Amino acid sequence: MTTAQKLSFDVQLSDHARTVAEREQVLANPGFGQSFTDHMISVDYTEGEGWHDARLMPYGPLTLDPATSVFHYAQELFEGLKAYRQVNGSIATFRPYANAARFNASALRMAMPELPEDAFVESLELLVQADKDWVPTTEGHSLYLRPFMIATQPALGVNYPSRDYKYMVIASPAASYFSGGVKPVSVWLSTEYTRAAPGGTGFAKCGGNYAAAFVAQRQAVAQGCDQVVWLDAVEHRFVEEMGGMNLFFVFGDRLVTPALTGTLLPGITRDSIIAMAGELGLRVEEGRISIEEWQAGCESGELTEVFACGTAAVVTPVGSVKGADRAWTVGDGGSGPVTLKIRDELVGIQYGSRPDAHDWVHKIC
Ligand code: PLP
Ligand code: COI
Repeated sequence: MTTAQKLSFDVQLSDHARTVAEREQVLANPGFGQSFTDHMISVDYTEGEGWHDARLMPYGPLTLDPATSVFHYAQELFEGLKAYRQVNGSIATFRPYANAARFNASALRMAMPELPEDAFVESLELLVQADKDWVPTTEGHSLYLRPFMIATQPALGVNYPSRDYKYMVIASPAASYFSGGVKPVSVWLSTEYTRAAPGGTGFAKCGGNYAAAFVAQRQAVAQGCDQVVWLDAVEHRFVEEMGGMNLFFVFGDRLVTPALTGTLLPGITRDSIIAMAGELGLRVEEGRISIEEWQAGCESGELTEVFACGTAAVVTPVGSVKGADRAWTVGDGGSGPVTLKIRDELVGIQYGSRPDAHDWVHKIC
């Protein structure tokens, strides 16, 4: 309804920004998603009026009525992308219009208003410009950007979606998502729980998908694994994705990744790897792979590597697999050459050390 609406952002800079020393202390060891910058974006939506009150403002808590819809019915969605310090010192994001499009696809599924794509990208630009000193200069670190939208009408009825919403962006300096850095992760096959079913919200980046996933992730950790692997809802055999990443299976120079059937998130990293593969001498198939094929492929040696990919996780090798009644190692359990080649190429484009043949890098300042 509002994709053509032009927003004008009011800018209110913080008068209590962290000192240089405080910021440097955070940047020395940022972890993932633990510390936030000095500013945030807020834009409100009212049915009938559209988007309004767009502003960059000091980072701080929200005050919301306890009856606010999002607290009760989880009408919420989010995005995740990063600002990268380029090798030449400038700052850029990666494919922000792809995130804007996915944000709006999620919004449609969640009966929430779409945000004009230009406003989405402008909100990121404003926040990164205001907090540019928070973009790490340490190799491999970045500023993680978290746009999100919540339903803000204080009302408990469920006969109609919320009439009011708030869109926000916060930013958080980030080191590696996995605390061990780039090293193979172990995964747990979840046959007890289901993340997404046909007709559900699997393709949308809505908080409810993640809320329902924590129990399986906790089970994975209890089993000594780093991450959960989700399987299809019907047979619990076909691989879909991981907790916050898509998966690729490497058969020599052939990559197989689960097709986008509506039950998994259409990852932008996944899409980028598919687009890049040919240039790296690799073929990609979007298809189906069962846990039996995964295990048999590793045991025969035909399936040489498996890797996970996503904004936060970048490209991460999968070293070992465990399920209720099976366990096996992928390759020699280490980081394979195809995984590392793809990772190097992607990271090189994102940080500006490799040519950006696809025009993916969006310079901010
Ligand atoms: N799958 C899930 C469930 C995710 O949360 C993410 C992260 O955003 C991905 C896949 C990878 O998506 P992207 O590459 O766009 O970050
Ligand atoms: C991302 O990679 O951006 C994610 O959203 C993954 C996770 C932190 C939820």
